[in-house]
Amino acid sequence: MLCIAGSPRRHGNSERLLGACADGIREAGGEPDVLIAAEAGVRPCRGCNTCSRTGACIITDDGMSDVYRRIDASDAIIIASPVYFATVPAVLKTVYDRLQPYWARVYRLGQPRPARRPGAMLLVRSGGDPFGFGAAVDTTRSVFAVLGIDCLEELRVQGPDAPRDVLEYPAELDRAARIGAGVAATARRR
Ligand SMILES: Cc1cc2nc3c(=O)[nH]c(=O)nc-3n(C[C@H](O)[C@H](O)[C@H](O)COP(=O)(O)O)c2cc1C
Repeated sequence: MLCIAGSPRRHGNSERLLGACADGIREAGGEPDVLIAAEAGVRPCRGCNTCSRTGACIITDDGMSDVYRRIDASDAIIIASPVYFATVPAVLKTVYDRLQPYWARVYRLGQPRPARRPGAMLLVRSGGDPFGFGAAVDTTRSVFAVLGIDCLEELRVQGPDAPRDVLEYPAELDRAARIGAGVAATARRR
């Protein structure tokens, strides 16, 4: 089960939520594969649209090759991210944009849609602005749609800011663990 940590900050709030979720996955008998987006060495999409002709990204010498392999090998995908300027941080958005070949294969090349898999998103923001979680949620829903992920849960935690703040939110950490267990159970049934 691929668990993508989307923050450029290590061991912060979203990564801690993902850690709780990974514990839940293990308790349910699943195996989390944690991917740190900020350390994946992924370069930005060039917008060349080569993938619309070939179904594959023209960039083949960066960390995205490993990310593609791990996405394709996973039976579920969970994404944890902070909200940055209303959406996801650039390191995670860079990974998202490189998923365009999955879109191109279905919508440009007429290839079969990928088998559906379960997933979830875990989002955290400090609050204090009027823009909410909406753009981060919609952007991640768009990614899940392209990957054929049925998003079982969308956890939104508002308040944590400093890296350990989420430790003051035990109910949300518990919920993240239950989400992990639920996604693992669903993945096993499919
Ligand atoms: C560059 C930047 C942009 C941010 N933008 C927002 C925002 O738009 N809305 C919000 O509520 N919090 C915003 N935050 C606060 C983070 O969402 C918050 O600190 C969160 O807990 C960080 O999670 P992490 O520890 O997983 O990185 C921003 C923080 C940074 C560093």
